[in-house]
Amino acid sequence: MRRHSLVLLFLLAAGAPQAYGQQAADGLTEQQRLGRQVVAQACGVCHLPPARGAGTYGPALSKASGGGKDDLMRKIIQEGTPRMPAFRYFLQPAEIDAVIAYARTLPPPAPAPAVAR
Ligand code: HEC
Repeated sequence: MRRHSLVLLFLLAAGAPQAYGQQAADGLTEQQRLGRQVVAQACGVCHLPPARGAGTYGPALSKASGGGKDDLMRKIIQEGTPRMPAFRYFLQPAEIDAVIAYARTLPPPAPAPAVAR
């Protein structure tokens, strides 16, 4: 019995690495990397799916966020929305700029699949 659960653990762990480990050849600038880090820390709880294909509370961040307009995206991040907190007092202007620069590297989300699996 015990051996079985160890094998299962190993199989689960073997599937995980792709999601991480891509830092070396990510092609991002220093600023975009900072933005990715800030997004993971401050925005991920609402904007990043906890698992592949899982839903999020807020819309996916991408080059289309804020209508693709940096000024509008900055305003949303600084002032928040009815369902999103304001980050004006939590993030430095340079961190917000980094988040925007990072989001601009992300493709807009694909339309939802027609058939749920
Ligand atoms: C508590 C959850 C929550 C957190 C944390 C959060 N957001 Fe949001 N965000 C939302 C929701 C929900 C919306 C959708 C707007 C609404 O319903 O009010 C949104 C909308 C946005 C939009 C506009 C989306 C679009 O498609 O134009 C941007 C940009 C955005 N968030 C960026 C961020 C960034 C950057 C952070 C981190 C610094 C962040 N959000 C943190 C919940 C959150």
